[in-house]
Amino acid sequence: MARRNIRVDGDPILRKKSREVTEFNERLFTLLDDMKETMYASNGVGLAGPQVGILKRVVVMDVSDTRDQCIELINPVITEVSGEQTGNEGCLSLPGLYGVVTRPMVVKVKAQNRDGKWCLYKGEGLMARCFCHEIDHLDGILYKDKLDEGEQLFRADAE
Ligand code: NI
Repeated sequence: MARRNIRVDGDPILRKKSREVTEFNERLFTLLDDMKETMYASNGVGLAGPQVGILKRVVVMDVSDTRDQCIELINPVITEVSGEQTGNEGCLSLPGLYGVVTRPMVVKVKAQNRDGKWCLYKGEGLMARCFCHEIDHLDGILYKDKLDEGEQLFRADAE
């Protein structure tokens, strides 16, 4: 496994649409393993392909406190949303910055795992927020595009 460089806002690759994964092979497994290592090393809760310069529809996420509940989402699709939550959101591609974004409170996702099998996930709170945020990355969308009305990006250390 190897850590990969995280692309930061301003890099055009973050604005491109990622392609579906069609081959579930060693190359994909290495990408997933590297993304996982990169996410943990950066203390992130999620990382999407474009953030490491790969325009494939792949996401790794771990919203657990124990940092041992990584899930891998390949070709993820949101199938159902309900409720609403408003809160701070950050991104490894916008280091040190946060912004207030309203997202659904509950999100259901279907995605393939590394064996190509379709799985269903249901997330609430942070997990629901993370699903939306990471899947947006696959379509070239950053959370700063979705700030609540009147909100601006802020630095955590600016308080
Ligand atoms: Ni992000």
